Amino acid sequence: MKTIFSGVQPSGNLHIGNYIGALRQWVNVQEGNDALFCIVDLHAITVPQDPKALREKVLEVAALYLACGIDPKKAHIFIQSENPDHSYLAWILNTITPFGQLQRMTQFKEKSQKHEENLGLFDYPVLMASDILLYQTDEVPVGEDQKQHIELTRDLAERFNKRFGETFKLPNPVIQSQTARIMSLQNPASKMSKSDNNPLGTINLLDTEEQIREKIKKAVTDSNSKVSKDHGSEAIVNLLTIYSAFKGISFNKAQDEMEGKAYSELKNSITEVVLETLLPIREKYEEIRKDEKALRDILDEGREYAISKSSKTLLDVKQKVGLI
Ligand code: TYM
Repeated sequence: MKTIFSGVQPSGNLHIGNYIGALRQWVNVQEGNDALFCIVDLHAITVPQDPKALREKVLEVAALYLACGIDPKKAHIFIQSENPDHSYLAWILNTITPFGQLQRMTQFKEKSQKHEENLGLFDYPVLMASDILLYQTDEVPVGEDQKQHIELTRDLAERFNKRFGETFKLPNPVIQSQTARIMSLQNPASKMSKSDNNPLGTINLLDTEEQIREKIKKAVTDSNSKVSKDHGSEAIVNLLTIYSAFKGISFNKAQDEMEGKAYSELKNSITEVVLETLLPIREKYEEIRKDEKALRDILDEGREYAISKSSKTLLDVKQKVGLI
């Protein structure tokens, strides 16, 4: 049985990039594995958050995990800040992390341009390494943008093991190559992102039918009018990728199916498959979110389970380092 760990930040609205790149993969691996899915609120506060909105977002994301198909009988869902082992291990790992390696992290470079720099933002990848290493994780299902962070995680695990003796398992990223990077509908050169200033760029999991229809209709295309393998612009490749992901077919099959069709027709087909998936998710979400007590019970069970695992690793680490 493999241990699977992954997480989403409760910052901004979850969108179809998060769904295709991460959540949908999680649903497929929860069966027959030891799966833990975390709502990483300590990561979210590395950029300014409104406290009241953050509290609400954490519960929203938890309910969305369930609405997307995470089954609490098969997997464990918990809130990062409710397990203090994460920040504890992060401190210890800080002491073996080279400064230069953190300076090379692309996400840090991007985020520190958008927000005021702070140490938390710089140290973010070390906390992420702790998340993963605490559970002796085998696999981390994520989108492409997290690959560099998982490479750092492996480096830190190796460095610690070398210095203090075998302690951490080396985790592997699991990235679905075809759908690893869904791009903005308004700017296909940049990743679909929760922090996009243009609301038309992202399709959020909780968007209404009208919003979804409008966003797909207004998605940028290119100067051609029909799908053709001879001119695969970034915008059209992205739309075909979204179509293939929601239809559950390969990119090549989607391309064959759409070859020669007008962009308007491609957009109609995308709207259909996206609505088919997202409307039921939205409905389930509303139902789950109404029963906060049941949600809290699931998160409590998740926290207890997470701590039962992470405390073993942390105790081993503390003993090896010479703490206590
Ligand atoms: P976050 O919250 O930015 O994104 C959550 C997941 O969604 C994936 N993703 C995408 N996939 C495809 N196309 C996109 N446009 C797109 N945008 C986001 C991300 O790759 C991610 O899998 N640092 C992480 C959260 C984290 C974490 C962890 C993940 C903290 N600790 C430990 C795994 C393991 C993050 O910011 O994800």
